[in-house]
Amino acid sequence: SAEYTTILSEVRGRVGWITLNRPEALNALNSVLVRELIDAALAFDASPEIGCIVITGSERAFAAGADIKEMADHSYAEMAVGGPFPGWGGFERMRTPVVAAVAGFALGGGCELAMMCDIILAADTAKFGQPEINLGVLPGFGGSQRLPRAIGSYKAAELVLTGRMMRADEAERSGLVSRVIPAAELLDETAQVAATIAAKSLPALYAAKDALQAAQEMPLSEGLRFERRAFAAAFATEDQKEGMRAFTEKREPNFTHR
Ligand code: CAA
Repeated sequence: SAEYTTILSEVRGRVGWITLNRPEALNALNSVLVRELIDAALAFDASPEIGCIVITGSERAFAAGADIKEMADHSYAEMAVGGPFPGWGGFERMRTPVVAAVAGFALGGGCELAMMCDIILAADTAKFGQPEINLGVLPGFGGSQRLPRAIGSYKAAELVLTGRMMRADEAERSGLVSRVIPAAELLDETAQVAATIAAKSLPALYAAKDALQAAQEMPLSEGLRFERRAFAAAFATEDQKEGMRAFTEKREPNFTHR
C-alpha cells in the first residue's frame, strides 16, 4: 500500500504478503516499521478474503532486531509506557494463520517476530539469535518466554545468556523452525504453503489456530476440553458439511469460508 514507507504489503489470491523493507538497517524494527507492520497485518486479519498472512524480509535479513539506534537513549519511563512498541498484543491475537519466511538474520526482535508467527519457514541462510545480552539488556518482544517453549529451557538459556546465533539446521533440529528450504526456493515454497493454507475453510483455520495457541497456555485437561468444544462447533459451519460431502463424493471441497 502506498502510504507505507518501511514495508511492502500486497494481496496475492487469498494470501496477504508483508515484506519488511528497510534494507539500509537490515530491517531493524523501528517504531514506524512496527506500526506499519501491525497495521497491515491487522487489515489482512480483518478481511474474510485473506486466509493466510506471510511476513518476510530480504535475502540478507528477515530483521536484525529492534532498532538499536532509535531506542538507545530512551528512558525507563519511555519504555515503561510502551515507548515505540505498542500494539504487539493485537498482532499476537490475530485469527489468521501467519507464516514467517526467514532468510538471513532473524535476531532479537526479528527472531521474536518470527516466533509470533504460527509457522517459520527458514532459508538455509537463516541465522537466529537473541543477542540482546550483548547490548546490556534482555529480549523484549517475548523471546525469554517463547524461545524456551519452542526449544526447551536449557537450549534457550544458552542462546539468551551467550547471545550467540544459531544457523537454520540447528534451529530446525531444536524445533524453532518448521522446515528449512534452499534459499533460492524460499519465496516460491512459502507461496505454495500459504496458498495451501489459504484455500482451507476460514472458520476451520481460525479454530485450529485458536486451539494450537491454547495448547501454549493451558494445562492438558483444559486444552482438551477447549478442543472438544471447538470441534463440536465446527459442525455448525457450512464448510464442515461441504468438506465431508466432498470426501464422500470423491471430489475437492469448494469451501465458502463460512
Ligand atoms: N538496529 C539498528 N540498526 C541496525 C540494526 C539494529 N538492530 N542491525 C543492523 N543495523 C544497521 C547497522 O547499524 C548498519 O547501518 P550503518 O551502515 O548505517 O552503520 C546496517 O544495518 C548494516 O549492518 P552491519 O554493517 O552491522 O552489517 P554486518 O553484516 O556487519 O552485521 C549483524 C550484521 C551481525 C546482524 C549486525 O548488524 C548486528 O549485530 N546487528 C544488531 C543485532 C542485534 O543486536 N539485535 C538485537 C536488537 S535489540 C532487540 O531486538 C530488543 C528486543 O528484543 C525487542
